[in-house]
Amino acid sequence: MNTFPTLAFDVYGTLIDTHGVIAALEKHVGHKATGFSRIWRDKQLEYSFRRGLMKNYETFTVCTGSALDFTSDICKTHLSRQQKKELLEIYRTLPAFKDVTDGLTRSKESGFRMFAFSNGTADAVEMLLNNAGIRDFFLDVVSVDEIKSFKPDPAVYKHFLKRSGVAGADCWMISGNSFDVIGAVSAGMKAAWVKRSPEAVFDPWESEPTITVKSLAELAGEINKYVNENPG
Ligand code: 2OP
Repeated sequence: MNTFPTLAFDVYGTLIDTHGVIAALEKHVGHKATGFSRIWRDKQLEYSFRRGLMKNYETFTVCTGSALDFTSDICKTHLSRQQKKELLEIYRTLPAFKDVTDGLTRSKESGFRMFAFSNGTADAVEMLLNNAGIRDFFLDVVSVDEIKSFKPDPAVYKHFLKRSGVAGADCWMISGNSFDVIGAVSAGMKAAWVKRSPEAVFDPWESEPTITVKSLAELAGEINKYVNENPG
């Protein structure tokens, strides 16, 4: 057993708040902003799942743009080309959740090997992490773009293990997205589900997260506890 586990941090929805776009949306779509943001995010993920299944890869940035077009149409908000351009620009510099810097600092102090692992392209993720001032916590950014598929294709988790040079048993997926937790566990990794909201519901499948934390501030302590209680 590796003394220092490897941690693969999901980006959108775990480190970076995809609903950080709501303030900007309010200017364009008023009271529809929160619902708009939710549909946009759900559709973005749906498009990535479908492109993965269809083996019809386009980048996550393309999925985000198509999902914005769909959401504008379904919500009848009639966003102009310029308004969409502005929103997609804001998406490139979305904020980190409040608990992130503290959580990453504690994880770093525990000696964990930390990577960012995302559906986003390396360029998009580098920009987000740099903008949020958290890039230096990570040894590297691993993007699904390197193998042209999307989470939760088992191939992308295997690709992560290969890139980080670690066995699944010594590697933790850290994600606020339950489909990502289930995908990682199914591919032989351990996984921490970041359940920031008490209302969040884990997908009721046959799979469970290895641990659940309420914020990233709890993460290092809970992983160390698990490793101590489950040696080897
Ligand atoms: C990410 O891979 C799942 O969107 C999430 O960053």
